[in-house]
Amino acid sequence: MTSRPAPSASVADSISLSVKAGSFTESVIREMTRLAIAHGAINLAQGFPDFPAPAAIKEAAQHAIAADINQYAITWGARSLREAIAEKFARTQGVSVDPEREITVCCGATEAMTSSLMAVINPGDEVVLFEPFYENYGPDAILSGARPRFVRLHQTDWSFDRDELFAAFGPATKAIILNTPNNPTGKVFSRGELEFIRDLCVRANALVITDEIYEHMVYDDGQHISPAAIEGLRDRTITINALSKTYSVTGWRVGWAIAPPAITSFIRRVHDFLTVGAAAPLQEAGAAALRFSEDYYRTLAEEYLARRNRMLAILEQAGFRCFKPSGAYYIMTDISDFGFPDDVTFARHLVSKIGVAAVPGSSFYSNPADGAQQLRFAFCKTEATLAEASRRLSRLRASA
Ligand SMILES: Cc1ncc(COP(=O)(O)O)c(C=O)c1O
Repeated sequence: MTSRPAPSASVADSISLSVKAGSFTESVIREMTRLAIAHGAINLAQGFPDFPAPAAIKEAAQHAIAADINQYAITWGARSLREAIAEKFARTQGVSVDPEREITVCCGATEAMTSSLMAVINPGDEVVLFEPFYENYGPDAILSGARPRFVRLHQTDWSFDRDELFAAFGPATKAIILNTPNNPTGKVFSRGELEFIRDLCVRANALVITDEIYEHMVYDDGQHISPAAIEGLRDRTITINALSKTYSVTGWRVGWAIAPPAITSFIRRVHDFLTVGAAAPLQEAGAAALRFSEDYYRTLAEEYLARRNRMLAILEQAGFRCFKPSGAYYIMTDISDFGFPDDVTFARHLVSKIGVAAVPGSSFYSNPADGAQQLRFAFCKTEATLAEASRRLSRLRASA
């Protein structure tokens, strides 16, 4: 048998590859994770917990596999999970949705966002995005063919200028993407802000696509409000969420999109052909988890509050100026006191010489220069990890 030669570089060079795929760079966050492994650094870059998932969700997944729930689930999601999602949304946000016609279970919030955008965007459509933004939203816009219109969240409280937001809405606006609680800033959008956004969306006949994956990580008496719970927004909102962060199972890849029936039927079409469906036994486990008692969510929030306070103290002690987050599990910092030329140089120094990985702020901005003196740290970590990070970071001033 003769083996086929590997395609030569010249063949690959002569085939024109996707312009869309070529226009986005590799995820900086995942690159930092690789560098963290290479240098044996503590990974405070990527947002995944290093502590165990709740025993009850793991047992539910084990039972589901033992019970042979091992074949394709219904493409838009196992009924048990869709019912649990609808019950929880009604319980926590007072929004009632029909699990048969308004929910699509996807492969994580990531796929829910991509499928949702692909379901609603046409050539020439614009989406309004607050920046700094979660880095996936840029490629999501490109993949779906939407033109992003960026509106700045201003330091230090990450508020937006209402006139700037007003100006970003125009005849081509199809949707605004919200992320509350917000990655990377920790901003939790207030009722007043959401009502202002509602008025703009109604005026422009635009949709709200809201990513609420950090809904249970809210601090200092803050409150997470789903845009769908704002009067007048339910019928123009796609709500995205996932098991990933709330139940510490980022590798399970189960998320969902909640939307009015006509929009859901389009999301389901995209989702079906993109992925067929999310892992069937893990959907069953999700159905059990979404029915955890209020105690679970209260404890989760308390534990994250303690981690946030610990991480703030560690970073301030090490010389960072911190933007105190009101939600989610990241701290954005101002690194200008360290005197490095930019965030990427500083992040490389941190990972290779100090042994701590963080995310360069530039990856959250459309114009990298805007984040060149910022760095983001994740604090979804055990006390042992945070203590070791603290020990390492204490060497920072001496090495800078
Ligand atoms: C705002 C936001 N949305 C979505 C995701 C990814 O969600 P999933 O793992 O469910 O795809 C992340 C992960 O960091 C995130 O920060």
